[in-house]
Amino acid sequence: VILTQDELKKIAAYKAVEFVESGMVLGLGTGSTACHAVARIGELLKQGKLKNIVGIPTSKKTHEQAISVGIPLSDLDTYPILDLAIDGADEVDPYLNLVKGRGGSLLREKMVESACKKFVVIVDETKLVKHLGGSGLAMPVEIVPFCWKFTAERLRMMFMDAGCVAKLRRFSENGEPFVTDNGNYIIDLYFEKDIGDLKVASDEILRLAGVVEHGMFLDMATTLIVAGELGVTVKNK
Ligand code: A5P
Repeated sequence: VILTQDELKKIAAYKAVEFVESGMVLGLGTGSTACHAVARIGELLKQGKLKNIVGIPTSKKTHEQAISVGIPLSDLDTYPILDLAIDGADEVDPYLNLVKGRGGSLLREKMVESACKKFVVIVDETKLVKHLGGSGLAMPVEIVPFCWKFTAERLRMMFMDAGCVAKLRRFSENGEPFVTDNGNYIIDLYFEKDIGDLKVASDEILRLAGVVEHGMFLDMATTLIVAGELGVTVKNK
């Protein structure tokens, strides 16, 4: 049998939920992979196989889904330290560094996931890359809407040597700027070449006034679960 990409995402998500124990405070990720984990946690709560879970959602969308499947929710103000977070990613390198945010939830994801003792990343094998930013897909940067063209141009210039193109993310339906849960915009960076040292790139982006956060999650994931045609693998950092 050939499994669909969505079936692989579900396999990875269910495997991650095996790490969940009753009484845990859980970071709930966002996206088409993480939503399988949220659904599964809800199911196990309903069956009584999990008890006393508190979920900390990483987006408004996940907040709604978690409520609909019956997961009790709270926030980082109340629980500044979480036991475990489960979330998807857009790219994963061999050191478990990630690109996230193609769904637009990078800021809340980074806040929640940096507060977790354990951060389990769940992906299908298409997300594995050698170098972040090298897949030809977007590296998202959340910025304030104020003079976004100025900030986009600064970001493009910052990575000129890598052949960077900086695009404001827009809704495909009406061409309006995409607005994050925090009322910000997203600039998607595309690179022709390797961007070099990721930590240097990360620091440089964050130093630019107008930038709120970027989608590189460096040295945060503690476990990676990959589902592929040949099965599911678990890799610890
Ligand atoms: C949301 O902003 C993202 O960071 C997602 O976690 C990431 O895009 C993975 O999404 P999928 O599981 O839908 O691929």
